[in-house]
Amino acid sequence: MSQWHLHTRRTSYALSLTADASGAVSDYWGPALAVGEDPAPWAEPDRFVGYAADADAQPLEYASDGQRHTAFSELLIDRGNSRTGARWMLHGEPRWRSDSSGDELELAFRDETGTLELVLGYRSSREHDVIRRWTRIANHGSDTVTLPRAFSAAWNAPVGQRVRVDYLAGSWAREFQERSAQVHWGTFSIGSRQGVTGMSFSPVVRVSALPDEDDVAARSGTDVYGVALDWSGSWRLQGESAAVGSHARVSVGVDDDVTTVTLLPGEEFRTPDSLGVHAASAIELPSRWHEFQQGLARERGRRTQPIVYNSWMATTFDVDIAQQLELARRAAAIGVETFVLDDGWFRGRTSDRAGLGGWQPDPAKFPHGLGELADGVEALGMRFGLWVEPECVNPDSDLFRAHPDWVYRAEGRPLLTIRNQYVLDLGREEVVLWVMATLRDLLSSAPIGYLKWDMNRPVTDGGRPGDPHGRQWSVQHTRNYYRVMDMLRAEFPDLIVEACASGGARIDNAVLQRSDVVWTSDQVGPRDRLVIQHGFLSAYPSWTMSSWVAEDDGHRDREAASLGYRFAVAMCGVLGIGLDLSRTSDADLEECRRRVEAYRGIRDVILDGDVRTHGTPHRGLYTVEYTAGTRSVLFVFDRDRDRVRDRDAARVFPAGLCPHTRYAVQDGFGHATELQITAEEAAVRGVPVAFSWAPDADVLILDAIER
Ligand code: DGJ
Repeated sequence: MSQWHLHTRRTSYALSLTADASGAVSDYWGPALAVGEDPAPWAEPDRFVGYAADADAQPLEYASDGQRHTAFSELLIDRGNSRTGARWMLHGEPRWRSDSSGDELELAFRDETGTLELVLGYRSSREHDVIRRWTRIANHGSDTVTLPRAFSAAWNAPVGQRVRVDYLAGSWAREFQERSAQVHWGTFSIGSRQGVTGMSFSPVVRVSALPDEDDVAARSGTDVYGVALDWSGSWRLQGESAAVGSHARVSVGVDDDVTTVTLLPGEEFRTPDSLGVHAASAIELPSRWHEFQQGLARERGRRTQPIVYNSWMATTFDVDIAQQLELARRAAAIGVETFVLDDGWFRGRTSDRAGLGGWQPDPAKFPHGLGELADGVEALGMRFGLWVEPECVNPDSDLFRAHPDWVYRAEGRPLLTIRNQYVLDLGREEVVLWVMATLRDLLSSAPIGYLKWDMNRPVTDGGRPGDPHGRQWSVQHTRNYYRVMDMLRAEFPDLIVEACASGGARIDNAVLQRSDVVWTSDQVGPRDRLVIQHGFLSAYPSWTMSSWVAEDDGHRDREAASLGYRFAVAMCGVLGIGLDLSRTSDADLEECRRRVEAYRGIRDVILDGDVRTHGTPHRGLYTVEYTAGTRSVLFVFDRDRDRVRDRDAARVFPAGLCPHTRYAVQDGFGHATELQITAEEAAVRGVPVAFSWAPDADVLILDAIER
């Protein structure tokens, strides 16, 4: 019997065929196996299972109906005429490739008619611990086959039957809120049917064991498993803990609620990739994701994300050349590196009720085109950036009047507006070509070095009447969105792309691979923002997390935060400024300039370092720690401290320092303090916080001086 071992940087994953070669089962997923160490096949059920077929109880790597009968299946097959499901048999030689960079496996199966092919794909890398998995289903027969569900993978996490699932939930202006669910026997399900990743849930979970009530000593390990979907369209993730077995099953893929995949004769469907990672503890898991995401970022990406000024919050739709040039002058004076003109710049765009779809500058606002502003911004030593929303159209626009058939619709049902707009059917070839041509023209019309791509509504009534693949609209839309993003990378390699969807409604690993930064949320109230960033950093990296210093207070604040606090929050990622600089006093402008300069001095540690969070941003002392080599930077937030009760100095306990090493401590502005401390002292006694940066926040810089 063959067993395949995929090795990552620190972990191993083993699988083998079932005894009758009708499927593959998970044998092992955890810390690295030694060479020659073959885990025993995970022969479940380890106790008698009645009233079920074997396949229902085995930890199958992937299952279909017809193969499983009582348990959940990742693949549903319908050939019409009541013929559903399939029974599989290994077909041909498994494809195995292994070298110093990683391992790759493809296992092919055929169904009982020999006309349907199922391929399970796996890839590991020695650079990180994330394993990629995908599935291909091909119709070699002469009849159409439909797939009401075609998930990417099932991950069997060996954490027992009582499971904790940690996930990120949210809504507009409160994305990435950490939540957790306990699953004993039953299922847990999250997803999006919105045509985009969505704000309701992020396609990533952390699974770990809950203490076993019957046998408390049984699961003392801290191992956690992360599962994600590499996908920006509609999706679903299900976690299941079943009656038998010692694993939790996480199944994930394209949404099976409103999506049906159709395979005409000769067609195949390749699922999006699913990503799985093991970490020895929950604290390590974020770094494991970030390590993988380094490979997605463009080489120049992480270190040089510019400090952006975005005028949206200052001017909303009411923009013009003189006012934007004045803002640009002030932005340059405080050290901003890229000036972004947001919504409102194009013809007819006086509010969100009109104009979307016509991407020429409004002649009343920019009589000499965008070039005048772009040149002015460049003359001030900054890059010029521009906002677009290419997937949407207002009913009141020339584009919609010319092409009313280009938007999603359910035949004759009246169209629904959200934010006064429709979504273009990007699945149509003529629409995606139009979007590409429009962006090419725009980017060639002026020196635009930064593009903020927004998307401000979910798809409703998705579909395309008359198209046999119409129920796959979300898959087609998403793949064509990737085509356009890939075109931007190929044809405009120096362009920096910021991905945005009303804030964080389209953030996932596939978007991180195709953009440079993401706009995490429209929430800029600093304490609300900190909660959002805390959740974001648990699965996504700091070098993509754009964050602005702005005036809003948010929902959590009973009293306004200091400017220093606002800066400290935004400095935890890619610093941006959204203040109305035309109203900022000279003293505040100088304060901004000093803090922007301070950020520039530590940005490489923030964007390149390992991140650890301490405490919870909901209350008390909360710290975000970045470590790169011998330097650590700590952001300390302390708005709720009861200074009467807690008379002692606040202390933080960095966890990323090099052992047996003495550190010198600087304040956030890079001024030396008296304090020197060893890693061990810091871990035991803590580093006292002087709050010299601001009364409610501090920045500490620790540099190793001797071992
Ligand atoms: C939503 C974005 O999140 C905002 O930053 C801004 O770009 C507006 N759209 C513009 O309409």
